[in-house]
Amino acid sequence: MQVHVPVTTESLKKAYRRISKFYDLVFGKIFHPGRETAVQHLHCRPGDRILEVGVGTGLSLEMYPSSVSVVGIDISNDMLSYARRRIKEETLPQVEALIQMDAQNMSFPDNSFDKVIAMYVASVVPDPTQLVREMKRVCKPEGTLIVLNHFQNEHRLVRRFEGLLQPFSKYIGFHPDFPLDQFLQRSAFQVITKVPVNLLDYWTVLVGFNDKKISAKHFTGQKSS
Ligand SMILES: C[S@@+](CC[C@H](N)C(=O)[O-])C[C@H]1O[C@@H](n2cnc3c(N)ncnc32)[C@H](O)[C@@H]1O
Repeated sequence: MQVHVPVTTESLKKAYRRISKFYDLVFGKIFHPGRETAVQHLHCRPGDRILEVGVGTGLSLEMYPSSVSVVGIDISNDMLSYARRRIKEETLPQVEALIQMDAQNMSFPDNSFDKVIAMYVASVVPDPTQLVREMKRVCKPEGTLIVLNHFQNEHRLVRRFEGLLQPFSKYIGFHPDFPLDQFLQRSAFQVITKVPVNLLDYWTVLVGFNDKKISAKHFTGQKSS
């Protein structure tokens, strides 16, 4: 039996207050290949306005070319304080703004960005369907959407281990047993490409296409779950 401990925005902020102190050391280099692949798949073009959701300590900011404009949002001010320090210390003209904001309820108008990317965030937020709904809303029609995440493993033993970790999600800051099929189906994410990344190909970059017509049909009258 699996016990699902609800992860709330408040418990997340608390978890990331702790995690921010060692985040770069533990989750920096090891997750860099995934970040690099994800950002490459944005196929940045000069003038693109890009939203990075859950930008954290800003580890990926240097990966964007200086010809684009990047807005980073995060729920945790503690994580953002490291990102802010980074843009003071490094020359990163591509960063337009770093803003504290809930990705599940963004204050940007519709169609504000050419491309929207979320790296290692989808299994962290309390409501991943609402996250994607918001990513689609603020992204222009036919814009690029990218989600980089770990999804529930296909191997039975690994899956069992992920299930055992699930009750601790409140403390570790993410849901270890996050099923890909369910995520795609609930969020109506139109996948163009799936790229396995990082150690043992344990994480996946999902490259998607923002089909507003399909999303409108899908989300009409549907409660997020
Ligand atoms: C695992 S970290 C990933 C950080 C960064 N994307 C990276 O590649 O290292 C997850 C980030 O998502 C942020 N986050 C969690 N829930 C969020 C929400 N509802 N809105 C915005 N950011 C959120 C956390 O504060 C944290 O910085």
